Amino acid sequence: MRFPAEPFRIKVVEPLRRVSQEERERLILEAGLNIFAVPADSIYVDLLTDSGTSAMSDQQWAGMMLGDESYAGSKNFYHFEKTVREIFGFRHVIPTHQGRVAENLLFSTILKAGDVVPNNIHFDTTRANVQHQGAEAVDLVIDEGLVPASTHPFKGNLDPVKLDRLLTEKGACVPMVMLTVTNNSGGGQPVSMANVRAVREVCTRHQVPLIFDACRFAENCFFIQQREPGYANHSVESIAKELFSFGDGCTMSAKKDGLVNIGGFLALNDEDWAKRITNLLILIEGFPTYGGLAGRDLEAIARGLKEVLNEDYLAFRIGQVAHLGELLMNAGVPIVTPVGGHAVYVDAKRFLPDIPQSQFPGQALVVALYRDYGIRAVEVGSLMFAQPDASGTVQYPQLELVRLAVPRRVYTTEHMRYVAESVIEVFEHRDRLKGLRLTYEAPVLRHFTARLEEIAETEVGAAR
Ligand code: F0G
Repeated sequence: MRFPAEPFRIKVVEPLRRVSQEERERLILEAGLNIFAVPADSIYVDLLTDSGTSAMSDQQWAGMMLGDESYAGSKNFYHFEKTVREIFGFRHVIPTHQGRVAENLLFSTILKAGDVVPNNIHFDTTRANVQHQGAEAVDLVIDEGLVPASTHPFKGNLDPVKLDRLLTEKGACVPMVMLTVTNNSGGGQPVSMANVRAVREVCTRHQVPLIFDACRFAENCFFIQQREPGYANHSVESIAKELFSFGDGCTMSAKKDGLVNIGGFLALNDEDWAKRITNLLILIEGFPTYGGLAGRDLEAIARGLKEVLNEDYLAFRIGQVAHLGELLMNAGVPIVTPVGGHAVYVDAKRFLPDIPQSQFPGQALVVALYRDYGIRAVEVGSLMFAQPDASGTVQYPQLELVRLAVPRRVYTTEHMRYVAESVIEVFEHRDRLKGLRLTYEAPVLRHFTARLEEIAETEVGAAR
């Protein structure tokens, strides 16, 4: 064993139901080959997301019993606020019920139509929330970040040269620069401290605030400790404090590195922004000391944010995900390297080179993993991102990935082995997989509700 075993023992268990192959075949067909529409109790290992799926600790559950459900001034809010200020260092702490609300509040208050928001790579809700304001979401990740086989240790880095160029040309239309740590849409890849410093320098020169999307900040800071020269002897907590000291604020989905099932926040230094956002918060989320959450949720987040910085936990967490990746790599399965913090991303372009992106190779793999093994993964490729351009020609994303996102403290290493063996079996029989076509799609974020069908082999032949 090359990574530390589970640094916890299991005190409560949630039984998993066995589902026959016939039932899975029926369920995935009824779901229109869309894994989001399969009931969760019909799934054996659920790697759809690491968001809101963490197992809370006994300390967090104990904290839930200390929930102060006062409408205003709950003691749990003050604990939450103090913890966020301590780790992130931003003055104004605004609770929200999840990350995308923090994004929505920020963008709907600050952006106007025609604005441009750069990021390493926008996560899909971030991009959609920027676009919802009539603004443009621009991805400026370094070139290596788009090459699945590149082994650059910080593939989440934002290219400061591209940023400088954008700000020189369009600075007046850029009200903020975002930086997502770790870079989820690019494979859960970390951003280095050197890059944060360089991005900050460009932002300062152009007088643009830098806002972090901090969902997986602890995982990012652990990678800095492990990989970046000069940080081996720094605690992850001190690395986090340094990282955020370069920013003006952050949005956060506590459903990731907050180790909770629901919650988020926005933290900012600018008083004017905070005031305007708080007014909107009261209108749509709730009073400023609960922001859409119960007092007990705020307590669980306050405790989770501290627990996530525990380095035994992080070594296990990052190690477990890396182990899954290694099992796949050793069998020749093409994955994004280095393995990301919260997920292993299978490179569906190389896994299924005979299925063109117009026929959703990533989704074909997702369907096979559920139908034959009861595993739920998620496509991060053409189903999620392909969009027609102004001339109506469909633009396909460069990356066609299938994400195996590992919930925190939920599955054992034996579960990971089961997943690896299943993916390897699909890989060995990959010539059996067929391309897919859409039978229904919604106008935005279509992957959540799309319906698809398999393309018969004769049609595939005719299409090539
Ligand atoms: N930013 C990033 C980088 C995310 O990964 C997510 C959510 C959000 C923002 C939005 O947070 O869900 O609390 O509203 N990612 C989940 C995922 C959904 O599966 O990767 P939210």
